[in-house]
Amino acid sequence: MTLSRIGRRPINKKRVDLEKLVKETYELLSEAERKDRKVDFTVKSCPPVSSDPQLLKIVLSNLLSNALKFTRKCKKAEIEFGCKIKDKKTIFYVKDNGIGFDMKYADKLFAPFQRLHKEEEYEGSGIGLATVQRIIRRHGGEIRAESLPGSGSTFYFTL
Ligand SMILES: Nc1ncnc2c1ncn2[C@@H]1O[C@H](COP(=O)(O)OP(=O)(O)O)[C@@H](O)[C@H]1O
Ligand SMILES: [Mg+2]
Repeated sequence: MTLSRIGRRPINKKRVDLEKLVKETYELLSEAERKDRKVDFTVKSCPPVSSDPQLLKIVLSNLLSNALKFTRKCKKAEIEFGCKIKDKKTIFYVKDNGIGFDMKYADKLFAPFQRLHKEEEYEGSGIGLATVQRIIRRHGGEIRAESLPGSGSTFYFTL
C-alpha cells in the first residue's frame, strides 16, 4: 500500500539540507538496532538538494536501516553518507562495511519482496529498496548498488 501511495502522491520539492536530514533520520532509527553496538557513522558535507523532504526521509531511513542491519555482525560497523560530483551531477551514496551481497543479484534487490538474506538472520519484508527506487525515479533520479560479499555495500543515487 505504501508503495502504491508513493507512486501517486504529488511531489513537493523544497530546498533540503541533506546533511541535517541524514543525521536526524539516523538518530530516529530504532534504538534497538544501534544499542550495544559500536557504529562509526560519518556524514560528509554535501550541497543542498531540491527534493521532497518527506519522501527523501523515507529513502534515507531505508538505506540507513539496511546499512545498520547488514553490519550487525561486524566488530566495528562503519557507515558513511556522502556525495561525489560527476559530469556536473551530484551522486549521493550510503556505504557500509557489512555482509554485502553477490553482484549477480544486484538488479533483484529493487524488486518488491526480493531478499538475498535469510529471514532468520536478518528480518525484513523486502519492500524497502523497491520503495526507495520508486521515490528516486519520481524525482528523476536513479539508484544502483555495488557490493562484494563480506566487504560491504554502497548504494549510489541521484535525485
Ligand atoms: N546494505 C546492504 N547490505 C547487504 N545487503 C543488502 C543491503 N541493503 C539491502 N540488501 C539486500 O537487499 C534485500 C532487499 O532490501 P530491502 O528491500 O530493504 O528489504 P529488507 O530490508 O526488508 O530485507 C535485503 O533483504 C538484502 O538481501
Ligand atoms: Mg530494508
